Amino acid sequence: MNDFLVQLAQIIGIQYVLTDHEDIAPYLTDWRKRYTGKALAVVLPRATLEIAQIVSLCSSKGVSIVPQGGHTGFCGGATPDASGNQIVLNFKRMNSILEIDAENQTITVEAGCILQNVQEAAAGKGFLFPLSLGAEGSCMIGGNLATNAGGTNVLRYGNARDLCLGLEVVTAKGDIWNGLKGLRKDNTGYDLRDLFVGSEGTLGIITAAVMKLYPLPISQWTTLVATDDIHSTISLLNLFQKRATSLLTGFEMMTHESLALTERHFPHMANPIKGSPPYTVLIELSDHESEAHVRQLLEDVLQEAFESNLISDAIIASNLSQAQGFWHMREHITLAQAEEGANLKHDITVPLSALDGFIRETDALMKAAYPGVRIINFGHLGDGNLHYNIAAPKGVDPKSFNLTNEKPIHELVYAQVERYKGSISAEHGVGQLKLEGLRAHKGEVAHELMKSIKTALDPQNLLNPHKVVSI
Ligand code: FAD
Ligand code: MLT
Ligand code: ZN
Repeated sequence: MNDFLVQLAQIIGIQYVLTDHEDIAPYLTDWRKRYTGKALAVVLPRATLEIAQIVSLCSSKGVSIVPQGGHTGFCGGATPDASGNQIVLNFKRMNSILEIDAENQTITVEAGCILQNVQEAAAGKGFLFPLSLGAEGSCMIGGNLATNAGGTNVLRYGNARDLCLGLEVVTAKGDIWNGLKGLRKDNTGYDLRDLFVGSEGTLGIITAAVMKLYPLPISQWTTLVATDDIHSTISLLNLFQKRATSLLTGFEMMTHESLALTERHFPHMANPIKGSPPYTVLIELSDHESEAHVRQLLEDVLQEAFESNLISDAIIASNLSQAQGFWHMREHITLAQAEEGANLKHDITVPLSALDGFIRETDALMKAAYPGVRIINFGHLGDGNLHYNIAAPKGVDPKSFNLTNEKPIHELVYAQVERYKGSISAEHGVGQLKLEGLRAHKGEVAHELMKSIKTALDPQNLLNPHKVVSI
């Protein structure tokens, strides 16, 4: 064991400095199996002070650090590079719920808390922690904040950034910034919290957070509806926004192709709406009033939607388990894509008013350029966020298809995103996947500002180098 590893072991204990090939392998490949790196060691600290000491040691030795939560990110942000000179700092041992403040409606958690555990801890005290995504059983709150995760409740409660009131962060110098305040107002100069949220481990290491809680809804109704096109789907969204206002907590769009793929890999997840409609939309209403009140509202809005020819079919979940089945079907699209083989993800957003044009035009360009290509298009339509994912034509090996076509396909989609004034990353972040694309997308001035921030906060380029921006 070299001197550096001995010193690491002195800080956290030798059993928490993993170096054995078999022990570290699970930490070196990302969820999509797109990136595999190497590492000097995987370290598993238990306390903020230990992390501060690790960072100071790394700073003195010039060793860079890759923070890692559940390693479910889609952009390779938590995967080390191929040099073998980095350490992975995994948060799985920093998993305590520190406090639930019922009066302030906040929860304070360590960064390694699994998202679902935070939701359950909040629910146990009668609160809703609204961040919700398909990976919630394994992603961690530190990773959620570092990526500014979105998910299925954003249209009502906002993304991870909107839910965060305070942070504790270890800086690149090894200092501890204690910003763990549960304040809803704080105008004391630059917003350091917002700087670290969404920075993907490149500016500081998030060790704990104060997050907002909400009263737990007492009634929830979930429905699946069939629509013919995007234009009517957006009109339907607008109708629900107008009639249900803040009761609208979910509006997820799934194309026929997305659900056919899901059914092929998970036959028990077949779309309960028969006839393979072009679009199936999952809508959820939640409230703090009686079940009957929300049910009536839902029925009224659906009736109006039928009469205006916005929808052709609808099924309202009659119980919790059926509602969960609808959500599982939605969440299994990503898993079905993974089963199908490598695919090209585009996590994009455009203004809702531009979405119809974007999809029509991009679909046409894609199909003309890549005959037989499968467009697996679904997403958080309520936020204008599409997962415009591309799979190889049936019968074509996905790996060789991607090898030849990945770059031009990304260019095609991103050129369309620019044309429609959108963003090339709505919720998944940048990581290493979109590092190159970011410069052109943000523009020179914004990119230079981002580099200045990185240089000022991490002059040695120790924290997750070559992710988000390269300096
Ligand atoms: P990781 O993957 O471990 O890390 C992500 C980034 O954060 C890396 O750059 C890492 O270095 C950094 N990081 C991690 N922890 C810290 C820390 N404590 N301090 C500083 N930096 C840190 N994402 C969505 O936004 N919406 C979705 O709907 C969604 N659905 C998903 C469904 C599935 C099935 C899967 C597999 C993923 C999904 N994701 C989704 C992507 C992913 O789950 C999120 O990006 C999540 O926020 C990542 O959390 P994590 O703990 O796994 O982070
Ligand atoms: C989801 O919303 O399910 C994921 O963010 C999308 C994806 O797998 O591309
Ligand atoms: Zn998503």
